[in-house]
Amino acid sequence: MKSIKKILWAVVMILSMLQPVLAQKKQIGNETSEQKAKRMEWWTNDRFGMFIHWGLYSGAARHEWVKRYERMDNAQYQPYFDNFNPDMFNPKEWAKQAKAAGMKYAVLTTKHHEGFCLFDSKYTDYKSTNTQAKRDLVREFVDAFRAEGIKIGFYYSLIDWHHPDFIVDIMHPLEPASNTEADYARINAGKDWNKYKTYLHNQIKELLTNYGKIDILWLDFSYPNNNVHGKSKDDWGSVELLKMIRKLRQNILVDNRLDLDEYKDGADFVTPEQVKPEELNQFAGTYFETCQTFSGSWGYFRDEITWKSNHELLTLLITSVSKGGNLILNVGPTARGEFDYRAVGALDNIAQWMKCNNQSIYGCSMASAEYKTPENTLLTFNMQTKRLFVHLMKYEAQTLVLPRYKGKVKYAQFLHDHSEVRIKEGDVGSNDLILSLPVNKPNVEIPVIELILQ
Ligand code: GLC
Repeated sequence: MKSIKKILWAVVMILSMLQPVLAQKKQIGNETSEQKAKRMEWWTNDRFGMFIHWGLYSGAARHEWVKRYERMDNAQYQPYFDNFNPDMFNPKEWAKQAKAAGMKYAVLTTKHHEGFCLFDSKYTDYKSTNTQAKRDLVREFVDAFRAEGIKIGFYYSLIDWHHPDFIVDIMHPLEPASNTEADYARINAGKDWNKYKTYLHNQIKELLTNYGKIDILWLDFSYPNNNVHGKSKDDWGSVELLKMIRKLRQNILVDNRLDLDEYKDGADFVTPEQVKPEELNQFAGTYFETCQTFSGSWGYFRDEITWKSNHELLTLLITSVSKGGNLILNVGPTARGEFDYRAVGALDNIAQWMKCNNQSIYGCSMASAEYKTPENTLLTFNMQTKRLFVHLMKYEAQTLVLPRYKGKVKYAQFLHDHSEVRIKEGDVGSNDLILSLPVNKPNVEIPVIELILQ
């Protein structure tokens, strides 16, 4: 009896020792966490990017999913191709606006779910060179943004609602209304998925070889749906794809929508989409980039009126950085190739704020737990300069308590104008510091106090 107990005990011990090994995720390559951190360095420093959703749907001007939402077939969608004429497209202008807003990288939809390519792919005729534009628009985007020193990202849709061999599934515009197996079989008869898979791999190869250094590849998206009329890593050939991507562009950053969660290195960052600032808490300390629209749609939507305010947009940016993540904010240019006037206004407002407050964003991350977050504020911290930034999300009182900050702060100033913010000590026996704030809110949407630490 005793020896059985001993054996059981030994088994338990061995299993518990093996636990970290067993719990470890599989790995596709052999990069260490340190190497990854190095590769991600520019991205964790830059924090703020621009997403651009532009395609034929910009002409419909009622959401980039219009083909699916209105269950159109290729023929019904054809007018958007025939009439695509972006005569005002000037990516230099786009790049200037992105730069002014403080965005350090930009990700353009080279192909969205509709299947239309903004680049001159040799594997399809469904591309910008065959429209009235007659040009490779991706090339012009790349040249213009690079010239402004903005890093280049390509969004590429794994999904394709135009390709003849793309198997119709639960997301497709032609999803059978009856949803019966017989209808799926009928609609998908004669399709050769391997042809689509090869097309997908070929196009990604084109994008990564024909345009010089690409910093980000943003692939979108998987919906395994228990493998019933969904699409998963096996359909895309995700492991092979990722290997090819890394071989072609060693330092590229890849998002997490290839359905490779079971691998430690199946993605470089996670992509919480259109979440509320509070929801970002759960991602604190991971590599995350929240993607957000100015309004409810990614593609240009003429009649959409629920645009986020300047305060809401800045809150998203500051919250992301305060949790150690990034924000990528989307613009949906019109079919003529111009930024929507509402987006221009929003970008201008961000530009104004960033001009004199960007130091609390770039190079910043989560503050360590030693610094308590004062009420109604968000903290960011720059490890290099050791500056702590207190963002005043609400401007109500004339004093701000820094709880248990006694002995930690040398000097305090507003970031936008470097005007002193006077510090008092709390009551006897308290470890708090108290900042005296001006009666009138400074002329900044969200004022930032810079704390120079001891
Ligand atoms: C979603 C949508 C898509 C958009 C993307 C951006 O997956 O399908 O329209 O491009 O999110 O994150």
